[in-house]
Amino acid sequence: MLDKEVVKLLNEQITKEFYSAYLYLDMANYYSDHSLNGFEHWFFVQMQEERDHALLFRQYILNNGEVVKLAEIASPTKDYSSFREPLTMAFEHEQFVTASINNIYDAAYKIKDFRTMQFLDWFIKEQGEEEKNADDNVKKYDLFAGDPKGLYMLDNEMKTRLYNPPSLVL
Ligand code: FEO
Repeated sequence: MLDKEVVKLLNEQITKEFYSAYLYLDMANYYSDHSLNGFEHWFFVQMQEERDHALLFRQYILNNGEVVKLAEIASPTKDYSSFREPLTMAFEHEQFVTASINNIYDAAYKIKDFRTMQFLDWFIKEQGEEEKNADDNVKKYDLFAGDPKGLYMLDNEMKTRLYNPPSLVL
């Protein structure tokens, strides 16, 4: 059995991870509309990873005999003002997700829920990588995408990202 407040936060995290997937799919759609297929691909892979995260939270709740409650997922559709804007928004969004996961960890820590803390360890590390990747995207854009040729080359680099299923298995 898990603590009710921890279960509530874990359930809310499912929605946040699915929202992340939805947001990154919207960004992939935006880049597709502008024929930046490498950026589209990068965000499509990110969308798949976020879906995987949501399903890991679902599985953890189920494995502990608790009830999964799926909430409404808000529309992520935005009007981006530049090719750069989704990159900065993605970085800000990852910082938001990190804070959310830290908040669940804090709740688990306060009641000595070591099992949930151990489960969340994977996400703590993952968020460090996700924030770095998102920050790198902004920095690379600022360094290399100042002219059409640079943007074209960066788009080609974004195309090389591979999707890997999560290393965490429940
Ligand atoms: Fe699942 Fe990017 O946080």
